[in-house]
Amino acid sequence: MAKRLEGKVAVITGGTSGIGLATAKLFHEEGARVLVTGSNPRTLEAARTELEGIAEVVQSDAGDRAQIEALFDRVQKDLGGLDVLFLNAGILVHGTLATLDEAQFDEAFRVNVKGAWLALKAATPLLRAGGAVVLNSSITNAMGTPGSGAYGASKAALRSLGRTAASELADQGVRVNVISPGPTDTGIIEKSGGAADVIAGTKQRLRERSPQKRLGASEEIARAVLFLASDDASYMTGEEIVVDGGMTRV
Ligand SMILES: NC(=O)c1ccc[n+]([C@@H]2O[C@H](COP(=O)([O-])OP(=O)(O)OC[C@H]3O[C@@H](n4cnc5c(N)ncnc54)[C@H](OP(=O)(O)O)[C@@H]3O)[C@@H](O)[C@H]2O)c1
Repeated sequence: MAKRLEGKVAVITGGTSGIGLATAKLFHEEGARVLVTGSNPRTLEAARTELEGIAEVVQSDAGDRAQIEALFDRVQKDLGGLDVLFLNAGILVHGTLATLDEAQFDEAFRVNVKGAWLALKAATPLLRAGGAVVLNSSITNAMGTPGSGAYGASKAALRSLGRTAASELADQGVRVNVISPGPTDTGIIEKSGGAADVIAGTKQRLRERSPQKRLGASEEIARAVLFLASDDASYMTGEEIVVDGGMTRV
């Protein structure tokens, strides 16, 4: 069977772990030349080992304008253009109206929303006709979950940004779609802080809420991202695909 991203250049922001890392491997298997970004030196180092021969790993803060512009300048210079952009970098902040502070709110919007807007802005001139952008939102973009105020709002903003970008990039021949995963076992919950027993309790509650009684795996999200990034989804733009084991429907 023909590879679905043969000869394509793909950039994945936040590709050093979890969903982005799994997607980098899948894009490579499907023939793409892949570049991933991250911000944490330790994770970047581990990813360089794990992705050797699979993807180039570049340090670039997904919320910083200068670093984002430098990233896409490099993509233009070294790779000559762009076919697939997966805006995946994101952080989970957890806190209620009473407990979340302003700095955490700002950081969620800096990385999850402003960074995606800046990346779209910088990448637009590079994106070739037939190209595809996928934004990683979350099922929290449409749910009222205690403690998800800032995170859910940032992911709703991202979904909105995706629809606007779909309309603006249509004439350029570029499709823009959104993927909204449900709880996926990546380590993002652990990174959001909190004691080990609280994290374990959160994950157990999420498993119990799921019709499949489990969390998703990164590879299960990556396969849906590949679908949207490839010509298999050639008649889809401005769309959102929910991959959550039925949590929001069943
Ligand atoms: N896991 C879930 O349950 C779930 C559900 C719905 C949506 N999502 C979304 O899926 C995306 C990927 O998350 P994940 O679950 O795979 O978690 P993850 O393993 O923590 O991956 C997050 C990725 O984003 C990168 N990142 C974070 N802040 C960054 C920054 N300022 N600059 C550059 N890169 C940054 C991380 O790299 P560094 O550590 O090197 O910075 C890492 O590569 C996120 O947007 C998340 O909101 C996840």
